[in-house]
Amino acid sequence: MSENHKLRVSKIRNGTVIDHVHAGQALNVLAILGIDGSDGEEVSVGMNVPSDRLATKDIVKVEGRELSQDEVDVLSLIAPEATINIVREYDVVEKHRVERPDTVEGILSCPNAGCITAADEPVTSRFDVLADGVRCVYCERIVRDEIASLIEP
Ligand code: CTP
Ligand code: ZN
Repeated sequence: MSENHKLRVSKIRNGTVIDHVHAGQALNVLAILGIDGSDGEEVSVGMNVPSDRLATKDIVKVEGRELSQDEVDVLSLIAPEATINIVREYDVVEKHRVERPDTVEGILSCPNAGCITAADEPVTSRFDVLADGVRCVYCERIVRDEIASLIEP
């Protein structure tokens, strides 16, 4: 297939391409990045596009924005195979695979209403990262499928 046939969403000038996202996870990637289209960011999304490495993949391109390490850490939880490409003046200047951290602190909130982190206490949330989800270190609640919905505003 020629490059033109492969290109589903146009190239970006400056920003981040999140590539090799598992098919079906693109909307969760947008949720993690806090993108809902309301603040005018230029974003392209490809879903179920053919991929060399995965059978099909999703891809998210965000113009004018480079991701923070916190954002990349959470992305790794739902898109463990993702490649983060930083683009400047149309060139990929940095490319790295996401790495799953052992723990994430202050990023996700525990869905257990009885958890100490849900009380009015100055406790920073902390989750251990498991092979297939995350576990609150305080109440041991495990979350697998709804991780994107736990992101603290
Ligand atoms: N990309 C883009 N805009 C640019 C440059 C690249 O949207 N100005 C996208 C490409 O379409 C591709 C991704 O960023 O989806 C990575 O680009 P590149 O490294 O050139 O592609 P590959 O070599 O195919 O990447 P990999 O080896 O990681 O699959
Ligand atoms: Zn908890």
